[in-house]
Amino acid sequence: MNRIFSGIQPTGNLHLGNYLGAIRNWVKLQRDYECIFCIVDLHAITMPQEPAALRKATREVTAAYIACGIDPVACTIFNQSTVSGHAELGWTLGCYAPLGWLNRMTQFKEKAGKQRDNAGLGLYAYPVLMAADILLYKATHVPVGEDQKQHLELARDIAGAFNHRYGVEFFPLPEPQIFGAATRVMSLRDGTKKMSKSEPSEQSRINLTDDADTIASKIRKAKTDPHPLPDSVAGLEGRPEAENLLGIYAALTDKTLEAVVAEFAGAQFSTFKGALADMAVAVLSPITAEMNRLMADPGAIDAILRDGAEKANAIAKPNLRQVYETIGFLAP
Ligand code: TRP
Repeated sequence: MNRIFSGIQPTGNLHLGNYLGAIRNWVKLQRDYECIFCIVDLHAITMPQEPAALRKATREVTAAYIACGIDPVACTIFNQSTVSGHAELGWTLGCYAPLGWLNRMTQFKEKAGKQRDNAGLGLYAYPVLMAADILLYKATHVPVGEDQKQHLELARDIAGAFNHRYGVEFFPLPEPQIFGAATRVMSLRDGTKKMSKSEPSEQSRINLTDDADTIASKIRKAKTDPHPLPDSVAGLEGRPEAENLLGIYAALTDKTLEAVVAEFAGAQFSTFKGALADMAVAVLSPITAEMNRLMADPGAIDAILRDGAEKANAIAKPNLRQVYETIGFLAP
């Protein structure tokens, strides 16, 4: 059986990059796989979070999953902290992960920055918890962005180390599903940086909660260069902002980059930005409206999460029990 696990942190605002790069792909996968989509709140606290904001963001990510088309009945949607197996397996797997492996993680180096002694143990252990998320369900496939590939390789290494230590084939080695470069959405202010929830400038991203005017204005002000649009993909070389905006248009319209470049060959940015804004609004406004509708009833969102936690626990509990059994933990 093929099972998918993936997750998004409930931090900051969900944006176009989360939609085009992650959630939209998950919607397609739910037809062919058993899917578990998590809101990874335990991961969120590896960076400082305000309690009220964390609660709100947890509901908001849940609403976004559903508004984008993930079916909470066919799939399992829950927040990580409601299934204690994540923390338990996270601890356990940490005992099979040599420091040498963790020291290679580039995301830790980036997030910890120069003041490494001030970074929390949780930030360091982040990839081990991520491995636990996946392995707790014996997930076989994990759709992630390019930036999470290294963490997924670590999850495979940890799964292999555990299996090898006990001479078992307990954990399947999870396969990454990396989606095309066209869905790598970059900042509107700097075409070389990923569109990110943690970037301080609101102008750098289109949030799923932005209204039509805000979306249009952000696109109008997006950074460009002084040249008209090229007539070939090769002409995008060294023009990261042009490539990003054309790539977003291609993703929104489900066209290839080649087709979009041909469509706007020689056009001024102002013309193209008008078309892009219209398209972004057309795609996002039904999602925004549905998110707002769902967010107006937090009780209903919580009920979905409760239901999801129950389904997740039903898989997690016996798997964790088997891990403990294998290790030799007595269950008196
Ligand atoms: N680290 C992932 C991210 O920031 C989120 C995440 C946590 C995740 N656990 C996961 C993704 C398990 C896939 C599978 O994008």
